[in-house]
Amino acid sequence: MADEAIVVLTGAGISKESGLDTFRDTDGVWGRVRLEDVATPEGYRRNPQLVHAFYNARRRQLASGSAQPNAAHLALARLEREWRGEVVVITQNIDDLHERAGSRNLIHMHGELLKGRCDLCGEISPWPDDLDLDSVCPGCNHKGRVRPHVVWFGEVPLDMPLIFSALDRCRTFVAVGTSGNVYPAAGFVTHVRSRGPARTIELNLEPSLGATLFHETIYGPATEVVPEFVEAILAGRKTG
Ligand code: APR
Repeated sequence: MADEAIVVLTGAGISKESGLDTFRDTDGVWGRVRLEDVATPEGYRRNPQLVHAFYNARRRQLASGSAQPNAAHLALARLEREWRGEVVVITQNIDDLHERAGSRNLIHMHGELLKGRCDLCGEISPWPDDLDLDSVCPGCNHKGRVRPHVVWFGEVPLDMPLIFSALDRCRTFVAVGTSGNVYPAAGFVTHVRSRGPARTIELNLEPSLGATLFHETIYGPATEVVPEFVEAILAGRKTG
């Protein structure tokens, strides 16, 4: 039933307690490396080796298994299994923790760290190992044209038509662990509210830039607030 559809938007905060850094917290990624150098097409053209090294380090950390899905990822997978209506998770994260937690109805709008994409033929392929200028595309066999399958600043996020149809269907929109800095994701809550009556809830460690756009806000670590929220939703109890 459309009125029971739930969309959950997640950001780096949901993976923080799994040991993966966020971007804009004081110990965040953008405090250590310039996003212009490693997360833009210009930066990749300027110095592809630097960009490959940046993503190789993050891919190795993820592929090493040191980061495991946490209680918040698991709670969202439970919500998808047990809720009577549709549940879609739209993640800005490029890790695979939602999949490994059991989420199926999942959209990676900023791409996936464990995949490579060929600049020449467009082939997207699983890529758990290092990527570099000697890497050969499994689709067209050209060397040195495979890039991280990650959406950089200035590029269009993936699956936007799918995302907006999910936003148009949902009557509950939840944002988890995102600072509300980056569009279009930061504008999803406003889009949902413009489409008609809906409940919008922010679950975060602290108020995001978009906090005032949400009907309800619940603050605390994701591993605490997300399982509690899911429990309340499934029990038909008031949240917050
Ligand atoms: N539990 C819940 N929320 C947390 C936790 C936690 N344990 N730790 C941090 N947070 C919150 C922070 O308060 C912050 O609001 O998670 C949010 C992380 O914000 P960002 O670092 O900006 O990450 P995100 O919002 O996902 O960034 C969006 O920007 O750099 C690009 O493509 C990148 O997908 C990323 C996008």
